[in-house]
Amino acid sequence: MQPVRRFAALFIATLLVVPAFASRDQPVIGLSLDTLKEERWQRDRDLFVAEAEKLGAKVIVQAANSDDTRQNRDIESLISRGVDVLVVAPHNGAALSRAMKSAKEAGIPVISYDRLILNSDIALYLTFDNVKVGELQARWVLDRWPADKPLRIVRIYGAPTDNNAKLFKQGQDNLLAPLIKSGRVTVVAEDWALDWKPENAKKIMNAAITRSGHAFDAVLAANDGTAGGAIQALLEEGLAGKVLVTGQDADLPACQRIMRGTQSMTVFKPVARLAMLASRTAVAVARGEKPAGTSTLDNGFKAVPCLFEEIVSVDQTNMMETVVAAGFHPADKLK
Ligand code: BGC
Repeated sequence: MQPVRRFAALFIATLLVVPAFASRDQPVIGLSLDTLKEERWQRDRDLFVAEAEKLGAKVIVQAANSDDTRQNRDIESLISRGVDVLVVAPHNGAALSRAMKSAKEAGIPVISYDRLILNSDIALYLTFDNVKVGELQARWVLDRWPADKPLRIVRIYGAPTDNNAKLFKQGQDNLLAPLIKSGRVTVVAEDWALDWKPENAKKIMNAAITRSGHAFDAVLAANDGTAGGAIQALLEEGLAGKVLVTGQDADLPACQRIMRGTQSMTVFKPVARLAMLASRTAVAVARGEKPAGTSTLDNGFKAVPCLFEEIVSVDQTNMMETVVAAGFHPADKLK
């Protein structure tokens, strides 16, 4: 290349590179959420955005209202708006291949948030130990039931489209399967609550009551929303507080039910820690850092680097030293 032409080429290349560096100083993050229905996701969003803004980034948030077509469209639109990095909590981990392909073509790294995106080339997965969530739910019930007494359970799983829901079930199965086999535990009824909706959980609970009368001792509800739906059905039958009910998320209404005795336990997932970690990681990735995990999970495409946040089982006995001490809910709201 002639020196002048080489200089011109370098000058043009510099011009092309400048906006990219500018956007790394003030990165733009696309946050695509499945839903904002449950209390936890609003908290995730607020903390994520606040932390990113503190670090000088801008966040564009989309929520797909449990609709896969819409979430693919949301992500395509974030890509066309020139985001530097995508953080995605999928409605259906297996239904985002089109948008993931577009992100890859545009060279935009994707961080999977709380739920794993399947069969795609993603950079990192940040989550809680979801198998352990299911184990804590089953452990809590088993620990409170006399070892020589048969235990009859109703199992309300989460959304069949959510990979986490399968992991929660897997965690419960780790403890329950041998006991079901030995006959100590009987599953009276079981079903998946579509889109995690409390009203679907209520229908499952109503059907279980119609079929088995009051012949069950515990309801393993996968999260606080589904626990709320089940407890509504139990209330109508005068059974609330008389059977054990599990949950997850430490939502305010669930913590209130625990203190009043209609729900037995929840699993506290410190969403603040996950949201801040995701926010800081997203900003770092946008600024060119390569994300690293402490372990990996196979998403069907590759071994995805993962980071897990800790979780804890919560009931009346430790509500104050966990949920309240962490500033998740103030004590006076739990009366
Ligand atoms: C999350 C839970 C949440 C559920 C329903 C799951 O993927 O891990 O925390 O309760 O979705 O939104």
